[in-house]
Amino acid sequence: MERFASALEMVEAKKPDIPVLAARPHAAARAARWFVKNFPGEVAYAYKANHSVFLLGALYGAGITQFDVASLAELEDAATIPGVRLHFMHPVKSRTAIRRAYHEFGIRCFALDSEDELEKIVEETSTADGPAKDLELFVRISVPAKNSRIPLERKFGIAGQKAAKLLVKTRLAADELGLTFHVGSQTTTPDAFVTALSDIHKLIVKAGVVVDAIDVGGGFPSRYTDSEPAPLKSFFDVIKAGMDKMPVTEHCRLICEPGRALVAEAESLIVRVDARRGDELFINDGGYGALFDAANLGFVFPVKLLRPGTESEPLKPFELWGPTCDSIDGMKGPFMLPASVREGDYIEIGNLGAYGRALAGGFNGYGRYLEVILLDEPMYTMYGDDDVQRSSKA
Ligand SMILES: Cc1ncc(COP(=O)(O)O)c(C=O)c1O
Repeated sequence: MERFASALEMVEAKKPDIPVLAARPHAAARAARWFVKNFPGEVAYAYKANHSVFLLGALYGAGITQFDVASLAELEDAATIPGVRLHFMHPVKSRTAIRRAYHEFGIRCFALDSEDELEKIVEETSTADGPAKDLELFVRISVPAKNSRIPLERKFGIAGQKAAKLLVKTRLAADELGLTFHVGSQTTTPDAFVTALSDIHKLIVKAGVVVDAIDVGGGFPSRYTDSEPAPLKSFFDVIKAGMDKMPVTEHCRLICEPGRALVAEAESLIVRVDARRGDELFINDGGYGALFDAANLGFVFPVKLLRPGTESEPLKPFELWGPTCDSIDGMKGPFMLPASVREGDYIEIGNLGAYGRALAGGFNGYGRYLEVILLDEPMYTMYGDDDVQRSSKA
């Protein structure tokens, strides 16, 4: 993989004809080190956020050896990493996926949110000797989303009396019983975790079960041009406070499984402007590519024009269009760029490491990327001096 000191150096050297995914493994490693040091429990990585081998290697090297996988395909890939411990946390899995995960890949940790799924897991992991005795089962609880960009509670999770009943049944089948939830991706304030932990506290009391593990999921935020979250430390503080009161065994494990917060700032996309029409720029990647979240969820990623001499020009707002012929392939932004931006220019679009590469498809024959490594700093960080200052003030 070619390495460059910066995106500008890369475009000057390569004049790339296709969009470029530019990984910054050092940024993923820094995020991982910070999580491992500061989170008051175990840190797993949500593999779905970005599967670049360079970023996976950086996370692993920085001490993250547990991964949350959501499909058999992710599991097969992640299982090639030596010594990794995998959690299969999708609450709805095919029978084949459960069977192969348990018998072929040695996975013991599964999530579920219904009695049907519990039955499937028990059936597919049984052997001639009877039901498996080593299952780690996590019941996914539905908790309210607060200040989350992508709420996840409607699709998965169980709550109330039904959840208490499922916890009792799952306890009977599990060697280790856990509860898990997800407050929604890009949750910008810690109060969602306060509510979630208080809800599961009440649920554990109601069910009267012994709980061995609590997985607080992902949802930890990153920085975007239109999103300035609370410091990550403030999330950890409320999680620790909620766990200190939790009616669980002394040895109860606390786990988190962030995706976004570990990799968002570790990858940029570099695009070329193929046409300018007023304040609209037609670029060579878009909503069917790595800019899915900009097109469909309105994320405003940071942008930088890669043309020397334009740094001090006044900025003006631009809208972006992707390369496919579909008219929903557009990104409103606004994306602030120097007024002189023109056809042939390259733009770095930063903090795209989470759900950028991961969501890119091949519509209209696009979807091919050059890949490089950049050695400079990401456009925004949650982990630099700036954030250390912000967290000590909080
Ligand atoms: C079960 C589970 N865990 C973790 C994550 C990672 O979430 P985030 O990227 O918001 O940290 C997701 C994201 O969809 C998820 O579904």
